[in-house]
Amino acid sequence: MEVIEIKNNIFWVGAVDNNLRHFHGYTFATPNGSTYNSYLILDEHPTLIDGVWENFTDEWLVKIKSKIDVGKIENLIINHTEPDHSRSLPKFIELNSKIKIYGTRNCQQSLEKQYALKSLNFNVVKTGDELQLGTKKLKFLEAPMIHWPDSMFTYCPEEKLLLSNDAFGQHFASQQRFDTEVDLDKLKHEAMQYYANILWPFSNLISSKLKEVENLAWQIDMIAPSHGLIWKNPQTIIDLYGQWTKGATKARAVIIFETMWGVTEIMANTFAQGLKEADIKVKVMDLNKFTKTEIITAMFEANGFMFGSSTHDNGVLPNMAGFLHFLKGLKPTKRIGMAFSSFGWGAVATGEIEKYMAETGINKAMEAINIQFHPNEEELKKCFETGKMFGEKIKTNLNSLA
Ligand code: FEO
Repeated sequence: MEVIEIKNNIFWVGAVDNNLRHFHGYTFATPNGSTYNSYLILDEHPTLIDGVWENFTDEWLVKIKSKIDVGKIENLIINHTEPDHSRSLPKFIELNSKIKIYGTRNCQQSLEKQYALKSLNFNVVKTGDELQLGTKKLKFLEAPMIHWPDSMFTYCPEEKLLLSNDAFGQHFASQQRFDTEVDLDKLKHEAMQYYANILWPFSNLISSKLKEVENLAWQIDMIAPSHGLIWKNPQTIIDLYGQWTKGATKARAVIIFETMWGVTEIMANTFAQGLKEADIKVKVMDLNKFTKTEIITAMFEANGFMFGSSTHDNGVLPNMAGFLHFLKGLKPTKRIGMAFSSFGWGAVATGEIEKYMAETGINKAMEAINIQFHPNEEELKKCFETGKMFGEKIKTNLNSLA
C-alpha cells in the first residue's frame, strides 16, 4: 500500500494487517483485521512517529525509504511500546543507531527491557515538553494507563494534528485511510468495540485526559491514532469518547449463557421474552457461539446482565468461569445483574456466578433461579415473570443514574 500524505509533509507509513484474527492473545477477536499506523514528518529535522508490528517491518522500511534515507531521520517519537508498535524498532535502530529517541520514562524502561537495547540516545519527555523540527514542532502529553504506563500523546500545533497512539483507534483493516472514506456507522462500531474491550477499565483516566486536552486549548482538526482509520472529523470520536467515559447505559439487557444440554438456553430465551414484555431490548448470547469481543461490545451499553450456566463439576462451566474472570478486569460499573442455572444434583453454579458479580461490582438485582433437569410449565412461567421483573429493575436503575 502506498505512502499517504495526511498533512503537509506528514506521511502515513504504516501497515495494513488484513489477516489479523486475534489480538492481545485470544482476548480480542479481530475479524476485520487491523492496521499499525506509523507517521513520518519531513522537516529540517526529519522525524518518525511509532513503529509497526514485527511481521511488517520490511514493508514499513520500504515505505519510509521511498521518502527518505533511514539514516537521515533524526528523531524517533515512541508514544507506546506494546509489541504491536515497537517490535519493528530494534531493526530500525540498528539501521540508524544515532537516532534521538523521545518517550516517557516508562517508555525508556520498557524499550530497554523488551529488546535489551543498550546505548540508546533516549530523551525522556514530560507533559509540556516540546521538540522543534524546523517549520513544525511537537508537543508531548503523558497519558499513563491509556492504556499502558508508558503511553503518551504527541501534538503538532502547526498542523492541528493529534497523534494519539491507541486512544481513538479501531481494529479495522481498510484500503482507505480516513473516516470520510468509509461507512461512518461501521467505523463508530469498530471504535466502540476497541474502547469496550481495551479501554473500558480506564474510563476515568480517559475522561480526565480529555479535560486536560480541552484545557490546553489545543486546536485539533485531525486525530491520527495507531490503529485503523484517521479521523478527519475528530469531533465525532471526541464526542463518542465523552459519552463512553461517562459509562452511560441504555434500557438494554444482555443474557450470556453456557449450556450442556440446552436447558440453560431455554431459561435464557424465556427470560428474554419477559424482558421484551417489559420493553427492554435484549440480546441472548451463547458464550460458545459469539466471540467474547462481540459479547463485551453488546454489554458495553446495556444496563442489565443475566449470567447463566449449567452446573458442572460442582461449579460453573469452564468457559463461563473464564468469561466472568475476563469481565472482572474490564470493571463495568453501574450495572445490575442476576444469575441462573440448570442443574442435575446440586444447584451451585449460581453461587459462583454471584461471587464473580460481587467481585466485578455488578449489583445483584434479583435472587438467582436454579432449575433441576428440565423446566416444567410453572418454572417457565417463573422465568418469564423474572425476565419482566428484571426489566423493571433496569428501568429503576437507569432512573437512579439519571
Ligand atoms: Fe496498539 Fe497498546 O498497543
